[in-house]
Amino acid sequence: MKRIAILTSGGDSPGMNAAIRSVVRYGVSKGMEMYGIMRGYTGLLEDDMMQLNFSDVGGIMEKGGTILKTARCEEFKVDRGRIEAYEILKNRKIDGLVVIGGDGSLNGATLVANESNVKVVGIPASIDNDIYGTDMCIGVDTCLNTVVENIQKLKDTASSHERAFIVETMGRNCGYIALVAGLTTGSEAIVIPEVKVDYQALSDKLLSGKKRGKVNSIVVVAEGAASAYTVARHLENRTGYETRVTILGHVQRGGSPSVFDRLLASRLGANAVQSLIDGKSNIMVDLKGSKLSSLGLDEVLQTKKELDIGLYDLANTLS
Ligand code: ADP
Ligand code: F6P
Repeated sequence: MKRIAILTSGGDSPGMNAAIRSVVRYGVSKGMEMYGIMRGYTGLLEDDMMQLNFSDVGGIMEKGGTILKTARCEEFKVDRGRIEAYEILKNRKIDGLVVIGGDGSLNGATLVANESNVKVVGIPASIDNDIYGTDMCIGVDTCLNTVVENIQKLKDTASSHERAFIVETMGRNCGYIALVAGLTTGSEAIVIPEVKVDYQALSDKLLSGKKRGKVNSIVVVAEGAASAYTVARHLENRTGYETRVTILGHVQRGGSPSVFDRLLASRLGANAVQSLIDGKSNIMVDLKGSKLSSLGLDEVLQTKKELDIGLYDLANTLS
């Protein structure tokens, strides 16, 4: 192993830069030549890459987004597109590749590992926290802090006007963001794709809160479960509550990474490079409890990450 390339792909997440910094600096410290590929698989297909040295990744730890940019690249899903990419990697004499991204990006990574001579290690980075095998993906913690901070602000105005706020979070088909944000803000109800929504029970919950003297109600809805507007309409009709909808949107993907994400990214980045140096390939480095480990990408991609429904029950009990 002599030359290692790194790319970020799919939806960005806070902490990707900390991971880039760690991969590059750890690699350089082990005598590797490190290359940064721009715009994920798109830049790879365009041979858009440059050598990165220790000082090239200075001052990026605290920055949100990714200095390597990211993209969604349809061409990479096609055999012919990938064959071109393998030629480019061969001409560049790249023998290791670190892919930082979500499950889609890891799908691309396993194909590179299986179809070329390049060894590949994936690093889970996605605000959705929907990747099997790791307790946390890079970016989830920062995203949750953003969501919680925003819900806290909405509570202020909800209380003043005695309104119900329906807050829609991201997460694609996974309810993790809504579940944890709902629990940690003491929101009245959480609507997630993993649990069938019961509008009658939801309305009863809001009404019983009102009876207890609550002056605001927050319902957190995961984008994959229902439209926040649909939930608002149901609740307004059944409870007579005046409602407002807030769709948090892409603000959830931005911001300076939290300490947790900086630490996770720094640890996973170094671990990914060490795994390549040790001759490993077609794996994802991950966090289980407080320890790092790794898992074959086949298993990661073929297994659905289950949400801890116990947290949903707890949120319901406590709210
Ligand atoms: P994320 O990595 O955040 O889940 P996407 O699902 O959009 O984001 O995937 C990012 C990119 O990974 C895609 O645009 C594509 O280039 C690549 N990719 C996704 N799925 C595959 C696949 N089945 N085969 C090859 N490449 C893929
Ligand atoms: O996967 C991360 C994510 O932010 C999802 O939560 C969301 O559904 C999607 O990406 C949004 O994608 P885009 O940036 O293309 O709008």
